[in-house]
Amino acid sequence: MKIAPFATEHFFAEYEFTTPYQLCNSDCETVTIAELLAMAEVDLAELGQVSLGYTESQGNPQLRRALATSYATASPDDIVVLGTPVEGIYLAARALLEPDDEVIVLSPAYDALINMFEHVVGTSNVKKWQFQSTATGWKLDFDALAQKITSKTKLLVVNFPHNPTGYLPTPDQLTQLVQIVEQHNLWLFYDEMYHGLIHSGTPPIPSAADVCQRAVVLSGLSKTYGLPGLRTGWLVIQDEAPRQNVMNWKFYTSICPPAPSEFLALAAWQVREQLRQKNIAQIEQNLALAEQFFERWPDLFGWKRPHAGSVALVKMNVPSVTQFATRMAAEAGVLIHPATTLGSDDHHMRMGFGRAAFATALTQFENYLQQNRIPLT
Ligand SMILES: Cc1ncc(COP(=O)(O)O)c(C=O)c1O
Repeated sequence: MKIAPFATEHFFAEYEFTTPYQLCNSDCETVTIAELLAMAEVDLAELGQVSLGYTESQGNPQLRRALATSYATASPDDIVVLGTPVEGIYLAARALLEPDDEVIVLSPAYDALINMFEHVVGTSNVKKWQFQSTATGWKLDFDALAQKITSKTKLLVVNFPHNPTGYLPTPDQLTQLVQIVEQHNLWLFYDEMYHGLIHSGTPPIPSAADVCQRAVVLSGLSKTYGLPGLRTGWLVIQDEAPRQNVMNWKFYTSICPPAPSEFLALAAWQVREQLRQKNIAQIEQNLALAEQFFERWPDLFGWKRPHAGSVALVKMNVPSVTQFATRMAAEAGVLIHPATTLGSDDHHMRMGFGRAAFATALTQFENYLQQNRIPLT
């Protein structure tokens, strides 16, 4: 059975470990194992005592209890610890859907959120709910969503804070979304990989797990906490039947989470607030630099400030961002991410603000722009 190329991951596989100056990472600045354990006041020697036997398939009970404390309504039994966060998208697509069910996906999107569902129900059964572009930002069009729902629609797929726009719904919009899901008896796959990365001035919203019984929520440590190398993610599913179905699929994909990651995830969860605040501070510092940069290049870029998360979708007035990015990576070692891999057009790039080296990379980018005459569209 065919599946579309996972374009975003192909792009990063090609450039992430070979290009020195990166402006497009969606994760936040990471730490070493020794730094993490020192923050959590756990002796490094304890890691050496972790057994490398199989672990409990649904996830270490102590870890699930710890994770459950961050939800108002979810219990440890509702949590399924995954082998990797991205695995949760596959498991949910398999467990919730039958071929020919219809799915609506907010778009643009991290491409697994489109491709995986197309793989399971067929391309023609996945409808894109497009973000609307306004002069200053992005807009959710609830009328357009309502028009896409049919008697065959089974699932709505969203991701907030959103990759790539950095959009966060208002509390009222979240209520509206949940009402639509419940009114039409849909399932809601809600990707919260960037949950809690809220910029100053943006009203926070609760986890979808706490406001929607029919939600399957994906969360993890990769983005908000800057620990993608742990590969720790989890699903929150309060309804027993889909949770059991997810568990059955999980036996085929990873069986159980990796023991060292669960140990380190538990330590990370003790210091999650410290990690999150560190990462928000880095994002806000980099956003301020980016805004000054965009003010210096008003004709080349169209900037819409994100509300939350670590990324933004930026218009770039060149004939092809893909060609421009490829050339700049080869000539100057500076990496921007053409947003075509996320279902956007070739006049947008996704920028990432979570890394400490952002300022240096931005200077290199600006030097390259100054040294090269950039043809505008
Ligand atoms: C919205 C979204 N969901 C899921 C993932 C997958 O997370 P991970 O790479 O940690 O498996 C990503 C990664 O970029 C993402 O942006």
